Amino acid sequence: MKRRDFFKTSAIGITAPSILMSSEYMKPNLNDPIILSTWEHGLPANESAWKILQNGGSAMDAAEAGAMVPEADPEITSVGFGGLPDEKGNVTLDACVMDSYGNAGSVAFLQNIKHPVSVARKVMEESKHVMLVGEGARQFAISNGFEEMNLLTDESRKAWKKWNQEKRDMTPHETHDTISVLVQDKNGDLAGACTTSGWAYKLHGRVGDSPIIGAGLFVDNEIGCAAATGLGEEVIKTTGSFLVVELMRQGYDPTSACREALNRVIAAHKGNPDFQIAYIAIRKDGEIGSACIKWSFEYALARAGENKLHKIKGLTK
Ligand code: GLY
Repeated sequence: MKRRDFFKTSAIGITAPSILMSSEYMKPNLNDPIILSTWEHGLPANESAWKILQNGGSAMDAAEAGAMVPEADPEITSVGFGGLPDEKGNVTLDACVMDSYGNAGSVAFLQNIKHPVSVARKVMEESKHVMLVGEGARQFAISNGFEEMNLLTDESRKAWKKWNQEKRDMTPHETHDTISVLVQDKNGDLAGACTTSGWAYKLHGRVGDSPIIGAGLFVDNEIGCAAATGLGEEVIKTTGSFLVVELMRQGYDPTSACREALNRVIAAHKGNPDFQIAYIAIRKDGEIGSACIKWSFEYALARAGENKLHKIKGLTK
């Protein structure tokens, strides 16, 4: 769908994107499932999500299953078990999910639970709330059958001890590989999941964008879905994922929507931010998009029996 198709000339002659309901113009993508995830660890995540779809699971089932893969992998130091801890040596986790009905669940500052994404789903499905944090989130997890475990591996403890001696100022992009998984199932329905251990050696109590609905993740089953990775503070300030979806509603294609959302961050930092943010997006008609601020970014796309990593360049040098 071309962006110009959505433009109308107003009575005063100014061309502006028209606000059109998806039902008027957007044919849903059917029988062509899509799984789109952030970073290289998106590849095994996609594989697991794909199996769920093949077995008749929903987009939400697939997104959760995908996010659980890096959560369980001790080698991935930015998510779940093995994630790098905060400044005090505690692994604190943030995650959220959103389904095709507009339901959402989220946990932040959660400790000692391996699969925060599944706790977030439980919050969505088994509680009256959207978001639980810290000790309350942990207690909720335990009362719902989640086991407690120490999430600090020998490697992440060693890394933290070294950092603790040097107290080097860590730039967020050094350790900031949040996994976000967006899924469109064969019925055209959309869902997403996002999970992270956040900024390594962050202040105790810090929460990033990943558990914030509209920042780290947003799903609107009429229009599309989007998710973020990178410096959460800047994603929160621009309600990034919600903005990407709203820009798609206004007629931006997914890549242009991701770029425009990032352009606002870039402009706020005088054209040259020294941090990374990347967005991924799926539009309801099955078009996908992505953009990042700096350097490069890789997303994993599973579609039509293929699961491949794609590299894109940043919008700034
Ligand atoms: N984007 C993950 C975080 O900032 O914690």
